[in-house]
Amino acid sequence: MSPTKPIDPNLLISRRVFTASTAAIGAAAVFANPSLGMIKGLRAQNTLKVGVVGCGGRGTGAVIQALKADPGSILWAMGDLFEEKIQPCLRYSTEAMLDLDDEQGTTTWSKKIQVEDRKFHGFNAIHKVLASGVDVMILTTPPAFRPEHLKHSIEANKHVFCEKPVAVDAPGVRSVLESARIAKSKSLSLMSGFCWRYQDQVKETMNAIHNGGIGKLHTIQTTYNTTGWVEPNPRKAEWSDAEFQLRNWQYFSPLSADHVAEQAVHAIDWQAWAMQDQTPLRCFGVGGRQTRPNLDETGNVWDHFSLIYEYANGVRAYHMCRHWPNTPSDNSAYFQGSNGNCTMQPWNGTHTIQGDTPWKGSAVSNDMYQREHDVLFKSIRANTPINDGEFMSHTSLLAIMGRMAAYTGKVVTWEQAMNSNVLLNEQTWEFGDRATPAIPVPGTNEEI
Ligand SMILES: NC(=O)c1ccc[n+]([C@@H]2O[C@H](COP(=O)([O-])OP(=O)(O)OC[C@H]3O[C@@H](n4cnc5c(N)ncnc54)[C@H](O)[C@@H]3O)[C@@H](O)[C@H]2O)c1
Repeated sequence: MSPTKPIDPNLLISRRVFTASTAAIGAAAVFANPSLGMIKGLRAQNTLKVGVVGCGGRGTGAVIQALKADPGSILWAMGDLFEEKIQPCLRYSTEAMLDLDDEQGTTTWSKKIQVEDRKFHGFNAIHKVLASGVDVMILTTPPAFRPEHLKHSIEANKHVFCEKPVAVDAPGVRSVLESARIAKSKSLSLMSGFCWRYQDQVKETMNAIHNGGIGKLHTIQTTYNTTGWVEPNPRKAEWSDAEFQLRNWQYFSPLSADHVAEQAVHAIDWQAWAMQDQTPLRCFGVGGRQTRPNLDETGNVWDHFSLIYEYANGVRAYHMCRHWPNTPSDNSAYFQGSNGNCTMQPWNGTHTIQGDTPWKGSAVSNDMYQREHDVLFKSIRANTPINDGEFMSHTSLLAIMGRMAAYTGKVVTWEQAMNSNVLLNEQTWEFGDRATPAIPVPGTNEEI
């Protein structure tokens, strides 16, 4: 899901009718399962072959951004659980490249689409994409699959763009931390989908806070309140339980991590960033499911959370998120300090400090989604690998920890959250029977 407002730059793709041939131009040499030595060699070449796994809205946006980020990036292989999801992603990506050719009077952009028959579907699509000779992986499935997909990608020596959240539970977060460590040891780049970290105005505001612009920070408030969510897909007779849940993944916490960790995690990341990624001592909170109709399609996720985090230096951070129809949306942050207060509303460009030294942000807005890929490809070319592994894992756990606290009604410490062995997906995902996860009821839900 995109951060709050339904303005998703990823999806601002022209709807031009697809007419172009996707025939490949003279392809560069294919390196199946390249060794590390080969990867270093590839950096010196012009071509960086991109593979995407998870061809939905975000996967499509990320493909286009990856193709725009580097003159030598080409779309090489595509994978999705469902075969019919691949063609629209290929079509929109091709349209976007054709539009660039039209705008610039060139023919080079559309030649970046070189997928040919490297289109794979099913649960093992990831392995086929990895084996197709790609250099850079885009991992944009529902979060439940991210730890495993990242592990396989790093094992196969690929650079990775990896969407948030990076996991749905603590074992998944620990797996991602380990993959990030291995990526570092292999000099592979690992870029996260926490896109605000690549937005210049928010970056400027965070710098102002870190440089003492409000004095000593003591209180943080973040919100991620929206009016609705994706429409659920009504069940079809031919779908198994598992297929039904996968096609409504946002509504099932084992697949999405619940909206506090799937969507509102962007606002929780502002908290983490303001705290310079210091981890909290503990968290407690409330939540529930007040406006979601109890239909099969709306799964087991809640529709509101309110969380309080406590830090060792005395800072308290308050987060609220909800999906309530017919109510105002709000995605902002307020940082209070000993000498002033900072208001940050990135969607309308408000970045101000009121207090001893009033301040107004002056940075120019940029497309954060594009910037992520620009930075990723630049880091690959320059052999100066970027690695977002630790902060993306910690921010994901910060949100998961809040969900644990609210679901159970307990105070959850950072150590409890990080060391939890609760698996949200004990059963391997395959098409067939699958129990519907229960709607959590605090006080009866003992698991952390
Ligand atoms: N950073 C951002 O602002 C932002 C914006 C949108 C989405 N996202 C994140 O991107 C991810 C995808 O979101 P989306 O909106 O594109 O969802 P989506 O439903 O549009 O796309 C997900 C795709 O993954 C496929 N898929 C499911 N399981 C799979 C598997 N095991 N193997 C291969 N493919 C599989 C689905 O069929 C679907 O096509 C989520 O984690 C979401 O939180 C981030």
